[in-house]
Amino acid sequence: MRTSICDMFGIDVPIFAFTHCRNVCAAVSAAGGMGVFGAVTFSPEELEIELAWLDEHCKGKPYGVDVVMADSRVEGTFAEIAAKIPQAHRDFVLQIEKRLGIPPLREHAPPASGLYQHMELRSTHGWARPQLEVIWKHKAAVVVSALGPAPADVVAKARSLGMKIGGLAGSARHAQKHIEAGADMLVAAGVEGAGHNSDLSTMVLVPEVVDAAGNVPVLAGGGIGNGRQIAAAQALGAQGVWMGSVWLTSEESDMDEKSIELMLKASSRDTIRTKAYTGKPTRFLNSPFFEAWEEPGALEPLPTPLQRMLVSETFHKVQAAKMNELLAVPVGQVVGQMKQRRRVRDIMYDLQVEYADTMARMCAMQEGN
Ligand SMILES: Cc1cc2nc3c(=O)[nH]c(=O)nc-3n(C[C@H](O)[C@H](O)[C@H](O)COP(=O)(O)O)c2cc1C
Repeated sequence: MRTSICDMFGIDVPIFAFTHCRNVCAAVSAAGGMGVFGAVTFSPEELEIELAWLDEHCKGKPYGVDVVMADSRVEGTFAEIAAKIPQAHRDFVLQIEKRLGIPPLREHAPPASGLYQHMELRSTHGWARPQLEVIWKHKAAVVVSALGPAPADVVAKARSLGMKIGGLAGSARHAQKHIEAGADMLVAAGVEGAGHNSDLSTMVLVPEVVDAAGNVPVLAGGGIGNGRQIAAAQALGAQGVWMGSVWLTSEESDMDEKSIELMLKASSRDTIRTKAYTGKPTRFLNSPFFEAWEEPGALEPLPTPLQRMLVSETFHKVQAAKMNELLAVPVGQVVGQMKQRRRVRDIMYDLQVEYADTMARMCAMQEGN
């Protein structure tokens, strides 16, 4: 399974884990892969605490940080940006709430909890810059830029600190932009995956990005949850894999229990790629709320970050009313493979065993001919 990207980072296996959970991040790095900590939901003060913890708990094993440096820059105060939400959209959301029986918030409702609380503005540059100032003080081995190439000063600063730069590429054109900006590695994450991924399937996207990348190593993501899928990713030319969904139901995951329960029950058909949450196509477990945006006559979701601002209160109400079937659970199609809670180190072990079995099976298949 080892490839040259392992030498680039001093890791044993080319398994990169995207996660917002520091325990998962450290556990993957401890098991010989590379945990990459998703910074987007953390304020600079919170990120400082998380990265200090990772510096201590990764015990010299490398970890990375993923920052959402969006191409679309929306500046302004929360109120200024919120004023751009059309009344028709506000009315449409209220109509959906009424139809689904989502009750209004009580006067003293507790604050929202969960992965995406208060992140309405977090995909703008204004949010990422102070996060980077925190990252520079810590020991990340790689800073990965989601949703757009890292600006030149960010690349220069990372280089001066010995950090590598990675970029998520949803097409060959994105790959070229990241490489021109100085990326040391690329991630090609296909439509099967959670989060904001490409609209191309991993099977089609990865070879296109690999061909565009030249000598720059590519990690394949989107729909990778077992060792067979890792072998397939390498067959497509990837140097390694970038996995996000499988860790959500691990023992170490800090995802709420209700969301984990929904994921463990779901099949690979139970997800939807929708703009209704962030304004960009993002994969979630399907729910009546997301279906309402697909119906004839539904309004087109607003662009980022307006859509997230528009619907955030609805999800706060859903949490407060404990309407679990309406929770926004971000996960990819591999959810159908996630059938029990397991420790990260066991997931990592099984991935490697299944990969080895797959390679042996493929050799035997060739020898049989
Ligand atoms: C809960 C969750 C949140 C995500 N948020 C981000 C993010 O902030 N930045 C990012 O680059 N990718 C994000 N992703 C996408 C992952 O980086 C990765 O591309 C994807 O999970 C790979 O596909 P998979 O889900 O099939 O493993 C997220 C994924 C999950 C599961």
